[in-house]
Amino acid sequence: MEKSLILITCAKGIPPYLREELLAMGFPVLDETIANVATEGTIDDTLRLNLLLRTAHRVLFLIREFAAPDADALYREVSEIAWEEYIAPDGYVCVTSSVDNPTIRDSRFANVKCKDAIVDRIKEKCGQRPDSGPEQDRTVVNLYWKDERCSLYIDTSGEPLSRRGYRKIPLAAPMQETLAAAVIQATGWTSVQASGQKRNSHFINPMCGSGTLAIEAALIVLNRAPGLLRNNFGFMHIIGFNESLWNELRSQAEIAAKKALDCRIIATDIRIEAVEAAKKNAAIAGVGHLIEFAVCDYAATPIPDVGSGRGGIVMLNPEYGERMGKIKTLEEVYKGIGDFFKQKCGGYTGYLFTGNLDLAKKVGLRAKRRVPFFNGGIECRLLEYELYEGSRKDINAEVKHV
Ligand SMILES: C[S@@+](CC[C@H](N)C(=O)[O-])C[C@H]1O[C@@H](n2cnc3c(N)ncnc32)[C@H](O)[C@@H]1O
Repeated sequence: MEKSLILITCAKGIPPYLREELLAMGFPVLDETIANVATEGTIDDTLRLNLLLRTAHRVLFLIREFAAPDADALYREVSEIAWEEYIAPDGYVCVTSSVDNPTIRDSRFANVKCKDAIVDRIKEKCGQRPDSGPEQDRTVVNLYWKDERCSLYIDTSGEPLSRRGYRKIPLAAPMQETLAAAVIQATGWTSVQASGQKRNSHFINPMCGSGTLAIEAALIVLNRAPGLLRNNFGFMHIIGFNESLWNELRSQAEIAAKKALDCRIIATDIRIEAVEAAKKNAAIAGVGHLIEFAVCDYAATPIPDVGSGRGGIVMLNPEYGERMGKIKTLEEVYKGIGDFFKQKCGGYTGYLFTGNLDLAKKVGLRAKRRVPFFNGGIECRLLEYELYEGSRKDINAEVKHV
C-alpha cells in the first residue's frame, strides 16, 4: 500500500498538542503550521488517526498535487485522476475547498469545476455518475488551491472530528470537544494520569455548561478512543475501505479502555438545565456514571480533601461576554473565582479559560503560565494558578447527586 502525505487540520493554536499526539502514536511530523500538522502514511493509517486523535479536526489524505492557473486547467488536471478507484458510480461526493487564486472570485465555482471533473470522469469510465452535494457524511474531496498550486485530498474524516457524537444538547457558548481535549492536554494532567505516577489527581469543573471539559477529561483518563463514539467517517465510503482492519482497531481500542476512574471528576453549574444537559451528554459518551454532577454556585463546588500533596485540577470556563453591562457583573464573578481558588482550592492547580484578559486580571492571583488558544476566532488564554495549601477551609466533599 502506497504512502502519501497526510495533512491533519485543527483549530489555530492546537498544532503543538496535535503534534504530541502524532508522535506518541509513532507517526512522523513532517511540517507544522498555524492550523495543521503534516505526517505521512497509507490510507489504512488514516483509520487509526481518525479513531484515536483527540485534538484534530480532519485527516486529509493527499491524492495529487499539480499546477492549475485557472478553472479550465483545474478541470483538466482533476479529470486525469482515477476517481473510479476511490468513488463508486452509485456513491455521493461533496467537494470542499480553500481557494486563493486570482482567477477565482467565489470558491464555490472551484468546487463545482472540481466536482464536475470527478463525476464526468466516473461517468466516462463506469457509465454512471455519482450524486453530489453539500453533505459531508459520505465521500468528501478537499481542494487546496493557492496561486497556481493545487493539492487534492480525500477527507477521510467526512464530518469534522470535533463532532464526537455525544453532545446532543450543546447549550450556549459550548467549548468545541477538540479544544477541550487540547486544553486538558496543556495542563499536563493527561500525562500524569497516563504515567500512573499520581493516582487521585482529581478533575474539578465548576461552571461545566454542557459538560465538554468533564466528559473529555473522563475519556482521556479512561484512555477511551474518541472515535469509538462515532459510526460514520469519510474513509468508510471510499472504495477498498478496509473494514476488517477498522473492526480490529475498534476492538483493540475497546480493550485498551479502562472501565473505572482512579480519580474523581466533579462537574457543577448553577443552572439546572446545564447540569441536565451535561448529564445527558455524558451518558451518550458512556461516562455519565463516572462523573459526579451537582447544581450549585461555582464557589460551593465540593473540592475533595487530598491531605498533603497536589490534589489535581480545578478548571473553570466562565463567560467572557462582550456587552458592557454584562462585563460589570462578570468582573464580580472573576473576582469571586480568585477568592474561591484561594480559600477552597489549596493543594490544587487552578485553571481559568477565558477570552477576556481584562476580566482575568480581576482574579487577583499571579498566573504561573498563560497558554494561548483560539475559541471561535477569539484569542483566549488558559491561565494556570498554583494554589498553595494552608488557607483552605475544609469543606464537606460529598457531592449531592441531582
Ligand atoms: C461559557 S459557559 C461554559 C461552557 C462549557 N465549557 C461547555 O463546554 O459547555 C459558562 C457556564 O457558567 C455557568 N455559570 C455562570 N455563573 C455561574 C455561577 N455563579 N456558578 C456556577 N456556574 C455559573 C453558566 O450557567 C454556564 O453554563
